[in-house]
Amino acid sequence: MKQLTLSGTSSRSDILIGRGLLGQAASHILEVFSPSRVHIVADSNVAPLYLDKLASQFDLPVSSTVIPAGEAYKRLTTVETIYRDLLEAGMTRKDLVIALGGGVTGDITGFAAATFLRGVSLCQVPTTLLAQVDSSVGGKTGVDLPEGKNLVGAFYQPRLVLIDPDVLDTLPAQTFVDGMAEVIKAGYIANPDILSMVSAPDYRANIENIIYECVKMKRDVVAQDERDTGLRMILNFGHTVGHAAEKLGNYTALTHGQAVAIGMVAAMQISNQLGTDTDLLPGLIDILQKVGLPTELTNDREEIFHALLSDKKKMGATVNFILVRTPGKAEIVPIAAETLHPLILNL
Ligand SMILES: NC(=O)c1ccc[n+]([C@@H]2O[C@H](COP(=O)([O-])OP(=O)(O)OC[C@H]3O[C@@H](n4cnc5c(N)ncnc54)[C@H](O)[C@@H]3O)[C@@H](O)[C@H]2O)c1
Ligand SMILES: [Zn+2]
Repeated sequence: MKQLTLSGTSSRSDILIGRGLLGQAASHILEVFSPSRVHIVADSNVAPLYLDKLASQFDLPVSSTVIPAGEAYKRLTTVETIYRDLLEAGMTRKDLVIALGGGVTGDITGFAAATFLRGVSLCQVPTTLLAQVDSSVGGKTGVDLPEGKNLVGAFYQPRLVLIDPDVLDTLPAQTFVDGMAEVIKAGYIANPDILSMVSAPDYRANIENIIYECVKMKRDVVAQDERDTGLRMILNFGHTVGHAAEKLGNYTALTHGQAVAIGMVAAMQISNQLGTDTDLLPGLIDILQKVGLPTELTNDREEIFHALLSDKKKMGATVNFILVRTPGKAEIVPIAAETLHPLILNL
């Protein structure tokens, strides 16, 4: 088992990573928390697979909420359902809420924990690759509004994150591949060793070490910019054009991971257009294709340009692009809309 600690301004998160951890979760949890009762939130796919395995380890009263699976349920009505179940179970601020699931479950449950009684203890047990390498670490929680994704939320650090790579064995193949987009992103923006590990023939056998390196990278970035006012922006590599493509496809034509893969290629092409010594594009395309991710932007370029200007990450008429010109080094480059327009048309 590997361990990392994220020390925030007013909180501390311990992150444990190891195969089989879910089977010993309660003992790790009770080393950190002293609850009188535990409430577990899982979605309708994860609950039949892992809820009993976790719940049965506690000698305490355990209650649960099973939420419908899918991004469509990442909304306030689902949070209200959780609040009601927490009240019904008699949860107090000394008790513990556990998010058992992917990024959707983690974001919703984190937000419910941040706001119920103005904050109850939170443990994240991420079960998708995306949640293990990205969303469970860093304290961003929240829900979508009909007007847009992640518009309501809170920064709320889980005191403990338990990452068991074995649970990835039950993931649909496409969901695993989607998470690989964030893994490859981590390699390009901060740690080329991750790219070497993914380039190995049977990289999945080494997934525990890959996850560890990704989490370490995210821990380091979040530790320097907990509230997302600067450096944390580098985590958006591939997400600028990616979000635009995702939105234009009504969030159904492309998965998030596919959109990020295409967005990383677009960002790399923009680096090339702006001038760079080393052409990283062929290597990026190779590694994305190797893991099964798409690389080609199929949307109309003019529509992409307009969609990314309306993205919430724009600042005035300037878009902050994350560019990588040396593997492992991300740059935040503000590009004025009029400069960006021809660059996007040239993609
Ligand atoms: N908070 C953050 O910092 C942050 C960062 C990135 C993404 N996110 C959010 O994460 C969400 C996406 O997360 P996701 O991709 O994990 O989606 P998800 O939670 O919807 O999970 C994907 C699918 O996999 C199923 N599943 C989960 N674990 C499983 C397992 N072990 N075996 C079988 N099936 C399993 C789920 O039921 C779901 O159908 C988005 O809402 C996004 O906004 C948040
Ligand atoms: Zn992402």
